[in-house]
Amino acid sequence: MKLELLEAQAHSTLAGASSSAQLAEAVTAVLGKRSPLALAHRELGALDPEGRRQAGRELHELRERLESLASARAAEIAAAERQAMLDADRLDLTEETSVASPIARGRLHLVTQTRRALEDVFVGMGFSVAEGPEAETDWYNFEALNIPPAHPARSMWDTFYLDLGQPESVVLRTHTSPVQVHLMEDTAPPIHAVIPGRCYRRETADARHLAVFHQVEGLVVDHDISFADLAGTIETFTNAYFGTDIHSRLRPAYFPFTEPSAEVEITCTICRGAGCRTCSGTGWIELAGCGMVDPAVFEAVGIDPTEWSGFAFGFGIDRCAQMRHGIADMRWLTENDVRFLRQF
Ligand code: FA5
Repeated sequence: MKLELLEAQAHSTLAGASSSAQLAEAVTAVLGKRSPLALAHRELGALDPEGRRQAGRELHELRERLESLASARAAEIAAAERQAMLDADRLDLTEETSVASPIARGRLHLVTQTRRALEDVFVGMGFSVAEGPEAETDWYNFEALNIPPAHPARSMWDTFYLDLGQPESVVLRTHTSPVQVHLMEDTAPPIHAVIPGRCYRRETADARHLAVFHQVEGLVVDHDISFADLAGTIETFTNAYFGTDIHSRLRPAYFPFTEPSAEVEITCTICRGAGCRTCSGTGWIELAGCGMVDPAVFEAVGIDPTEWSGFAFGFGIDRCAQMRHGIADMRWLTENDVRFLRQF
């Protein structure tokens, strides 16, 4: 067979292979012991010495060209096969998010959305965001906040004690106010911070109470801070978060760590002030406690009360969510009924 024809046939055999297995067969057909090339080698013996040398060189060069063609084709096929394997193996994440997918995408719980929205409002007012531990010693939850052992104010909060160390020495925090103490211990004034977090009280759940709920604490310590600064901050916040058509008011109250103290209330958004089960018929819902930081607290953390003054507040996050979205019963927030949760 003419060498040009042999080479052309070998090319098309190698190029026609599209898998490693087919290529192995094609290589045997083109370069193996029974290939036309091997046959041509065997026929060399019939030639005269000069013709044998000449034809032998040409066959050798042809074999080299075919071998390099075969190895180039092998590399191409290996790359294509690897790509096909990766394509088949790839986790298609778009499937989860596609509109047509039967697997619905989740969402943040309303309480998390509310925490973030409240943080945004306060950050917009110049506060920074801090956090603190959920398990506290008696010192942080009570004593440093001017509530000594056996003080009647301890019964304001029904406490979960943890079985750690001395009896009744470690508690699940009943409010976020202990983080005021951490902040004042760790940071030199001025301080302008909000502290969101989970709180625990041994409480029977009802339309506006949970045993595990959330507060966002606020603390400002600076020069010449007055009750007017506190009232203005609260009003700016309630207007920004609930809108100006919701009325808010401050009512005198008692907290051992603030003096004077107040409670923040807004018109109940469920009954618009007419009185309902959610607001126990009063037309008002309490959202927060607040007041001017008591000098005894400053002294407990080593801040000079003659130089610095401040205010603090603690809003219920779940309560804010409840009033903002008109949720008649706070327990719905924890029941995990997706028909409820999906609405937000
Ligand atoms: C306190 O917890 C004080 N630490 C607030 C405070 C901070 C006063 C700084 C002064 C200075 P109180 O127990 O009233 O206060 O709770 C504050 C708010 O948390 C309530 O107005 C309410 O919105 C929310 N809250 C309280 N208990 C619950 C509960 N069991 N479930 C849901 N929300 C609650």
